[in-house]
Amino acid sequence: MTKDAYSLAEEAAAALRSAAGLDTFDVALVMGSGWVPAADAIGETVREIPFTGLPGFRAPAVAGHGGKIRVVRTSSGRHALIFLGRTHLYEGLGVDAVVHGVRTAAAAGVRTLVLTNAAGGLRPETQNVGDPVLISDHINLTGDNPITGTTFIDLTEVYSRRLRALVREIEPSLAEGVYVAFRGPTYETPAEIRMLRTLGGDMVGMSTVLEGIAAREAGLEVLGISLVTNPGAGLSGEPLNHEEVLEVGRATAARMGVLLAKVVDRL
Ligand code: 6GU
Repeated sequence: MTKDAYSLAEEAAAALRSAAGLDTFDVALVMGSGWVPAADAIGETVREIPFTGLPGFRAPAVAGHGGKIRVVRTSSGRHALIFLGRTHLYEGLGVDAVVHGVRTAAAAGVRTLVLTNAAGGLRPETQNVGDPVLISDHINLTGDNPITGTTFIDLTEVYSRRLRALVREIEPSLAEGVYVAFRGPTYETPAEIRMLRTLGGDMVGMSTVLEGIAAREAGLEVLGISLVTNPGAGLSGEPLNHEEVLEVGRATAARMGVLLAKVVDRL
């Protein structure tokens, strides 16, 4: 099963290279909910390839999650693959589907991966709605793992210290925190949010960790950024809703795009 997933990614990479008219790419970015408009700031669109035209990809089920790969040329002449939409574990397609984009990017020659997401904030420093937070590490509570077998992958530094320092040169005031992922699609209960704070979590969401693991298996250098869209359940007295998560993303997309454009040009 795992062997097939890797060859499927090779196939998708070949199709992607040919659709893009390029042999390799400098960086890939996975845009979480609400980040889609940020892609516009990264560079000039060379081509857009719908997921439906590539082996192993599926159009995401959730509104606001897009469903294509945009090939972008930055002002410094770098080529970026921007994944507008991702597959989440809660869609029930399995962990290989969740990390297929990352494996495809790696097979297409990408060495640097930027993973973004929308997250709930768990601590005062990571609870400012609309603020980006650098992911320093993660806690994988999805109950799954993209790697099967006896390959023991080191996860001491999933999210590159070097890339975090580079972002800090651009925005010195960015907070940094540990991202916890659940499978979803339910948001957490207030008791679970209290548990996560005890465990050392700073942000919570439903993505990124499995992609981070697959990226490390492929030897990619990873940058992770959460956009805080709301405090965790029970922390604000308000119930959570998906529309609000998307709305915060839309409102802060421009700032995110400018930041990511600078990052990509300094890689
Ligand atoms: Cl509070 N929890 C989870 N699991 N995902 C989120 C979130 C919370 N806020 C945005 N995405």
